Amino acid sequence: MSAMLSIRRLTIDDLSWAMRLKTLAGWNQIEADWRRAIALEPTGCFAGEWNGAPVATLTTCVFGPVAWIAMVLVDPEHRGRGIATSLMRHALEYLAGRGIASIRLDATSLGRPVYERLGFRVDRELIRYRGTPNGGELNSRPPKCEVRRIEPDDWESLAALDSAATGTQRTRFLHALGDDGGGWTARDDDGTIRGFALTRAGSGGVQLGPVIATTEAAGSELFRAVIIDLGGVSIVVDVGMDHILANQICRQIGLTVERKFLRMTRGPSINEASCAVWASSGPEKG
Ligand SMILES: CC(C)(COP(=O)(O)OP(=O)(O)OC[C@H]1O[C@@H](n2cnc3c(N)ncnc32)[C@H](O)[C@@H]1OP(=O)(O)O)[C@@H](O)C(=O)NCCC(=O)NCCS
Repeated sequence: MSAMLSIRRLTIDDLSWAMRLKTLAGWNQIEADWRRAIALEPTGCFAGEWNGAPVATLTTCVFGPVAWIAMVLVDPEHRGRGIATSLMRHALEYLAGRGIASIRLDATSLGRPVYERLGFRVDRELIRYRGTPNGGELNSRPPKCEVRRIEPDDWESLAALDSAATGTQRTRFLHALGDDGGGWTARDDDGTIRGFALTRAGSGGVQLGPVIATTEAAGSELFRAVIIDLGGVSIVVDVGMDHILANQICRQIGLTVERKFLRMTRGPSINEASCAVWASSGPEKG
């Protein structure tokens, strides 16, 4: 059966059918997300064709010894034929060729068995919240620290905070997100940056994330300031189930649980400081 499947590079010429698959799955990405994925890993984004018709996608992104796999989508009419498994094997070979040790992804419940058979194991659960924040208690108390828009000189500190929290050197991804959306830092009184937040547009709501913060004041203040700045729009935010404070804030501001993801890794575990990760960047790259 796999003789009918061919795999080739995914390019920006594929965006219209790739967006259709994304929409059928009910996901939040927009064209800018595909463009960013392809720009970050031009040789590592793949299209699956069944009898010559494009029916499946997968993207990879390499950050030094760690890589992320995302956008694993198969046309509903072509599921259950081994297409996702074949695309995954193809991507794993590509990443092996790049010398990658650890491969990560955020799995839906549909994807989990496919990945488990390929040697991925569950690290933890992420909760996706959605809603239009009401400000809640966050609006009624004085700020705990200063939050302001990211300035060009801030990026070095942000990258250091991010890699200490995530165990991944993903500066080029953060820059690309910064170019596409909004960004804020939280600072101590002496100006030391203790956290940052990025946002980007989505088809069903603004994605808030990553939010990385090393103090409680910075994390809660970033949520507060960003939500006030965004002003009454619908947002989507992915929070680790074990991050009690971030989950509390999401509930306080009136967001509701939409779905869950499983963060999975194949190969050596990554040394993370998950308490500093108040919100994931979204399911594409941790
Ligand atoms: C998850 C998803 C990508 C799987 O795609 P798929 O091409 O159907 O996956 P596969 O065919 O490789 O595997 C799916 C099932 O078909 C079975 N299968 C694989 N090859 C097969 C074959 N040749 N004949 C019959 N069944 C087969 C697999 O054993 C698997 O069974 P199980 O999951 O019930 O244990 C697809 O359901 C999808 O796009 N879902 C929506 C988006 C999504 O959730 N993506 C995952 C993000 S993490």
